[in-house]
Amino acid sequence: MTTTQTELRLAKRMSRLGTETAFEVLVHARALERQGKHIIHLEIGEPDQDTPANIVEAAVNALHQGYTHYGPSAGLPDLREAIAEDVAKSRGIKASADEVVVVPGGKPIIFFTMLALIEEGDEVIYPNPGFPIYESMINFLGGKPVPVHLREDRDFRLDVDELAKDITNRTKLIVINSPQNPTGGVMTRQDIQDLAAAIGDRDIMVMSDEIYHRLLFEGEHYSIASVDGFKDRTIILDGFSKTYAMTGWRMGYGVMRPDLAVHIARLATNSTSCTATFTQVAGIEALRGDQSEPEKMRQEFQRRRDVFVKGINQIKGFSCRLPKGAFYTFPNIKQTGWPSKKLADALLDDAGVAALSGTAFGAFGEGYLRFSVANSIENIEIALDRIDQWTKKNL
Ligand SMILES: Cc1ncc(COP(=O)(O)O)c(C=O)c1O
Repeated sequence: MTTTQTELRLAKRMSRLGTETAFEVLVHARALERQGKHIIHLEIGEPDQDTPANIVEAAVNALHQGYTHYGPSAGLPDLREAIAEDVAKSRGIKASADEVVVVPGGKPIIFFTMLALIEEGDEVIYPNPGFPIYESMINFLGGKPVPVHLREDRDFRLDVDELAKDITNRTKLIVINSPQNPTGGVMTRQDIQDLAAAIGDRDIMVMSDEIYHRLLFEGEHYSIASVDGFKDRTIILDGFSKTYAMTGWRMGYGVMRPDLAVHIARLATNSTSCTATFTQVAGIEALRGDQSEPEKMRQEFQRRRDVFVKGINQIKGFSCRLPKGAFYTFPNIKQTGWPSKKLADALLDDAGVAALSGTAFGAFGEGYLRFSVANSIENIEIALDRIDQWTKKNL
């Protein structure tokens, strides 16, 4: 690193900003690969398949047609319309284009929503283990993080009774995520209705992270936005990354009341200006075009989940529930006697299998590892064999 003469005087808030460990583990795994090691990647949360050809073609055509300029901060009107239609159909609600804001990925909806809503001291309830960006952003903004423990004996479905006890008159926002990262837990229709009843008519907003809603293996997807009286208090987060294997395109969206949407769009104007316009044209094709590829991907993830869970349950020290959605498995590793982070490091360094420590998703992730099944069956089988060999040597 080059040396500098001046002291870097970072803003204090930077010390409160967290991170997403998956990206760091990926960097470490790639460094090991450069040293000649063979690594099976089960750490990062993205489909291994390429974006379906019809979507790629739509983007290429859009580029040729001159979609190379700035667009409106809230998104192209035609895409907002297509999203509103899709969300209305998939959630059984009414939705219109002015309730949709298109941003570069699902993550900016977390960032912008929290920036727009949370003031210092506001309490935010969120799942733990859970997507680490929620906690990071709450801390960054000086909010008070109030984690709800997702428990294995409930198949990692959020316990509404437990959450209800955490609601106070300072609660500003409740974050839910179903199907869930990292556990694959899915909230039932009853869970959602119970949550709505627990919130009652309090003026609390709900950010419902539904980015995995199409990656469901059992049960149904039920959005809290469809509960009577909750549409105005819900921000639905969804996007293209996971359903259409478009992680690198950076395109997601939020659906919310129009008077909040204008502020989220204003935050976009102040930061990203807009989402790349040619990708938005491809987004319309993704939503309105042939849906057989995403469905094939979903079925393939289910097959891989079954292979992984069956295999890992035969390995000493590991036990794993069958996740009902998303493409993650979250085995319990308590019987190994190893702390999660140390075990994840050892599996990467000694066995060439990259996974994430459960603690990358919050303190209640101790005792678990997250393995993504977004890899081929062949690689999953190699990974299982390597973990098995490693445990036979080390446990
Ligand atoms: C629960 C959850 N929400 C949001 C995101 C962000 O998605 P994107 O890559 O579209 O920003 C992810 C990505 O891993 C996620 O797991």
